[in-house]
Amino acid sequence: MKFLYVFFIFLAVINADEHTHTYNDGEQVVLWMNTVGPYHNRQETYAYYSLPFCVSNKVSIGHYHETLSEALQGVELEFSGLDIKFKGNALPQEICPVTVNDQAYKAFVYAVKNHYWYQMYIDDLPIWGIVGEVDGDNYYIWTHKKFDIGYNGNRIVEVNLTAENKEPLTPDAIITFTYEVNWKKSNIKFEDRFDKYLDPNFFQHRIHWFSIFNSFMMVIFLVGLVSMILMRTLRKDYARYSKDDDLDDLEKDLGDEYGWKQVHGDVFRPVPHLALFSALIGAVKVFHTTQGLSGKGLKD
Ligand SMILES: *[C@@H]1O[C@H](CO)[C@@H](O)[C@H](O)[C@H]1NC(C)=O
Repeated sequence: MKFLYVFFIFLAVINADEHTHTYNDGEQVVLWMNTVGPYHNRQETYAYYSLPFCVSNKVSIGHYHETLSEALQGVELEFSGLDIKFKGNALPQEICPVTVNDQAYKAFVYAVKNHYWYQMYIDDLPIWGIVGEVDGDNYYIWTHKKFDIGYNGNRIVEVNLTAENKEPLTPDAIITFTYEVNWKKSNIKFEDRFDKYLDPNFFQHRIHWFSIFNSFMMVIFLVGLVSMILMRTLRKDYARYSKDDDLDDLEKDLGDEYGWKQVHGDVFRPVPHLALFSALIGAVKVFHTTQGLSGKGLKD
């Protein structure tokens, strides 16, 4: 029980940093590993450690899904175990070695062949890197991660990752993964730190004209279909209504409503299990409100 308390306090301290986005000099900065997947299908992602990357044996910090949207996007944050301190440069050093056994070899070759790339987060800033490279029949894996982190005052405003050191991938090799961290003063304002990712050149978005055309045609087709159905069903009603205009008012009030005008009666009819229905609506509302609040807390 005591252990749990300590764990939660630890978690709270870590989260406080990431949520306020301010750090003291030398304070721990957490690098989260997120996903890995093929570059050409960005929807297909797996947890980073589903590839046999080495797991450093430093303290682990559990991550929980903070918002529903995070869970739906498939965010799988896991602590990298890298020791990164705010404004503390780290010389190139070993993370840990991986012994490439038969299974690991196959997994890595598959990943390199399919242009797998991985995603990480540092202080909510996304970082991407490529797993390896094919050259003819030879497979290589990038082993060195160089982080260039830009800071402005006590905030992190920029991260660059450079992959270095190509190691040939061979069965039974021992591959050592390394990293280094360089901190640089930057003039980017904290408010503008995501602008880089909104720049169209950064992602090289291609406009999918065919999809746009496709959905446009779909909309026209559906509008036509629905209006045709409506016209057909309502035409008869309209004809009768216009005939009724000839009758005097008294007769009209006494007469039953018919046709699509009956719908107005349905709107005011109570549902069969009113209490249960209201309870369910209330529960869903509470759920939405709490989700919304925690989502906002993360962004602030
Ligand atoms: C990151 O890369 C960009 C573009 O190459 C460069 O302008 C910027 O200075 C780099 N930032 C850091 C902190 O190294």
